[in-house]
Amino acid sequence: TDAFTFDPGFTSTAACESAITYIDGDAGVLLHRGYPIGQLASQSNFIETCYLLLHGELPTAAQYAEFETTITRHTMLHAQFDRFFEGFRRDAHPMSIMVGAVGALSAFYHDSLDIHDPVQRNISAIRLIAKMPTIAARAYKYHIGQPFVSPRNDLSYAENFLRMCFAVPAEDYVVDPKMAKAMDRIFTLHADHEQNASTSTVRLAGSSGANPFACIAAGIACLWGPSHGGANEEALLMLKEIGTPDKIPEFIEGVKSKKYKLMGFGHRVYKNYDPRATVMKESADEILELIGADNDPLFQVAKELERVALSDEYFIERKLFPNVDFYSGITLSAMGFPTSMFTVLFALARTVGWIAQWEEMLADPAQKIGRPRQLYTGPTERDFVPISARG
Ligand code: CMC
Repeated sequence: TDAFTFDPGFTSTAACESAITYIDGDAGVLLHRGYPIGQLASQSNFIETCYLLLHGELPTAAQYAEFETTITRHTMLHAQFDRFFEGFRRDAHPMSIMVGAVGALSAFYHDSLDIHDPVQRNISAIRLIAKMPTIAARAYKYHIGQPFVSPRNDLSYAENFLRMCFAVPAEDYVVDPKMAKAMDRIFTLHADHEQNASTSTVRLAGSSGANPFACIAAGIACLWGPSHGGANEEALLMLKEIGTPDKIPEFIEGVKSKKYKLMGFGHRVYKNYDPRATVMKESADEILELIGADNDPLFQVAKELERVALSDEYFIERKLFPNVDFYSGITLSAMGFPTSMFTVLFALARTVGWIAQWEEMLADPAQKIGRPRQLYTGPTERDFVPISARG
C-alpha cells in the first residue's frame, strides 16, 4: 500500500495536463487561455469566451459571427423533449430536472454520441451550449407553473435566456440591457475553473468513453452539492436566515464555534480575493442600484456580513474571502431568480468549461480511464463462517 500517494481531496495531485485555465490562488489570478478573467468579463462576452475556451484563441469577427449563429440555431429542443418535463412533480428542485433532462439529451440526439468522431463531438458541444438555457428556463417555468417560452433567434444568448425565464404570454417583455449585461457577466465568470470537483467528475466519466450528454449530467450532479455550485443558493438562504444586520454578531459566533459555515466564503485554491468576486461585486452593486434594492434587509445583511468577515481575525487568519458565489447569489436574487435556480445558472455557464476539458482529455494521447487507488483499512483475509455457525 505504501506504493500509493495518499491524497484525500486531491489537494496536491495533478490529475492531468491542461492548457485551458490557469489559477494562482495565492495571487488571486485566473486566466483563460492566458487572458485575465477581469478583462474577459469587462471586454469580452460569454459567447466569445466559449469560443476561446473551446478553440484556444479569440475568434476573428467572421469566426465569432459563425459561432454565434450556429449556437443560436441549436437553441430549440426536440418537441418530444417538452413532454419529458411534464413527468416531474411541480415542486421538483430545478437542479433535479436539469440532471435528468441533460442526461436524457443522449436519448434524443443519437447522431452526436460517437466520441471518436470530431464532427459529432463538435455538434454535441454546440447542442449542449445552445440548449442549456432552454432547458434551464423550462425547468424554471415548469417549477412556477407557467407555459414555456420558445427561444428567439434575434436575441443575444443572455437576452434570450432572460426572456425565456421572465416573459409571460400576451405581455411584451423587453430585456433591460443592464440585466442582460449582468447575466452575461455571470455566465462569463462561471465558464471554467480548471480541475474543480464537477470538472474532474466530467473528466472521470468521460475517461470511460461515456457520451458527452451523460458526462455533462454527471458534472451537474456533482456541482449541485453545497460545497461547490450549490453554495450560491446556500449563501442566499443563509442571508435570509440571518434576517437583519443586528443578528450578524451572533451568527459569526456560531461560525467560529464551527456550528455553521459562512456560505459563499472561502475557497480551496484562492487564499486571496477570488478575482471573479471582484468583478461580480461590481455587477451586484449595479443591479442593486438599478432595482433600488439598497434598503432591502437581505442586501444590507450581505454588505454588513462582508464588512465584518473581512475585518475579523478569524477569517483573515484562515484567508476566508468572499467567493464568486456570494455576490452572484445576491445579484441573481436582485434580478428576480428564486434561490432554487442559482445552481442551475451555474451549470448552464459551466457547461462550456466541462466540454472544453472533456475535449482536451479525449485529445490527449496519454488519456486512459481514471482509476484512483486506495489505502485499504479493512480486515485481513479470513474464512467464511456459515450463518448457522455465527453467534
Ligand atoms: N466558513 C467558516 N469557516 C470556514 C469556511 C467557511 N466558509 N471555509 C473554511 N473554513 C475554515 C475551516 O473550518 C478550517 O478552519 P480550521 O483551520 O479552524 O479547522 C479552515 O477554514 C480551512 O478550511 P478547509 O475546510 O480546510 O478548506 P477547504 O479548502 O477544504 O474548503 C471550501 C474549501 C470552498 C469547501 C470551504 O471554504 C467552504 O465550504 N466554503 C463554503 C461553501 C462555498 O462557498 N463554496 C463555493 C466555493 S467557490 C465556487 C465553487 O467552487 O463552486
